[in-house]
Amino acid sequence: MNVFRTDLFKDKVAFVSGGTSGINLEIAKHYARLGAKVAVMSRSQEKVDKAIAEIQAEGGVAVGYAADVRDFDAVLNAVEATVDSLGKLDIVISGAAGNFMCPAEALSPNGFKTVVDIDLNGTFNILRASYDYANAGCSMISISAPQSTGAYWGQAHVSAAKAGIDMLTRSLAAEWGPKNIRVNAIVPGPIEGTEGMERLSPTPEMVAMVKNSVALRCYGSKQNIADMATFLASEAASYVTGAVMYCDGGQVLAGGGVTHAYAEQQAKAQ
Ligand code: NAP
Ligand code: COA
Repeated sequence: MNVFRTDLFKDKVAFVSGGTSGINLEIAKHYARLGAKVAVMSRSQEKVDKAIAEIQAEGGVAVGYAADVRDFDAVLNAVEATVDSLGKLDIVISGAAGNFMCPAEALSPNGFKTVVDIDLNGTFNILRASYDYANAGCSMISISAPQSTGAYWGQAHVSAAKAGIDMLTRSLAAEWGPKNIRVNAIVPGPIEGTEGMERLSPTPEMVAMVKNSVALRCYGSKQNIADMATFLASEAASYVTGAVMYCDGGQVLAGGGVTHAYAEQQAKAQ
């Protein structure tokens, strides 16, 4: 159900990294339904083409580019192409991420580096490339994760990267505030029907344990995160910057992290 004015983002342009699947695609679609012209970016041209087609099939305006967030020049080209084709840049979502379960003692230096490069350095690349083209009033939103504050078995690489995103959010908000560029982050809880949760909780036992760790005792929906991203990009959040916003059903209230029983299930599932 949409609770926002249907022309909320009329005349706005949004760029969504990782916008070709899961949570980020839902954000891109929701923005388009509210009138924004959207650009999606991810590595796979096939996924880019499919995402564009899905948004256009709903009557939205969409373009897209295949690029890796780890390649700053490619990111810059995608941002420039967005501004060339859609005219400006009002909203930026940095949502591309990579994840896999791996206990630290089994993780190679390149495995650790790969996730930090995609999640943290990739977020810097997206926001830095966007800065030069951002309109005054631009809203930049990064997608963080519960691992930024909670220690999860097999997630040292993601925790390091997402904690970095939270501090990058605060730092850029402080530096870019005087230009009226707002920089915020969203911490989604466990979200139904996503690649992320397929990777993190592959068995019914683990799903049950995760739900039990959430105050509301259920998974969230992709729409829940799209709604938070809509609030943060809207005028209603015009005095909100440097915030790391939880949309997690109260999962963080238990302190984050996982129980030993969950870690044992994780180990068995590998
Ligand atoms: P997803 O469906 O796997 O989406 C990841 C997106 O990032 C895809 O579009 C992927 O497309 C793109 N991507 C991956 N590596 C990339 C790279 N190097 N360069 C450019 N694009 C890249 O994931 P999701 O589960 O919806 O998660 C989306 C975001 O929410 C992530 O930031 C994740 O950490 C966060 N999050 C998710 C959950 C959850 O419950 N799922 C919970 C907390 C936080 P290509 O393969 O085409 O590159
Ligand atoms: N366990 C341990 N190490 C792993 C791993 C796993 N499951 N998957 C990859 N790695 C390691 C590789 O072994 C490699 O290290 P090495 O050179 O020392 O062997 C390093 O990570 C890079 O792997 P590679 O496959 O070359 O990376 P990539 O850039 O092609 O892919 C990933 C990045 C690994 C994150 C891949 O899972 C991906 O593309 N994910 C995107 C989708 C996603 O993760 N969605 C959920 C978002 S929350």
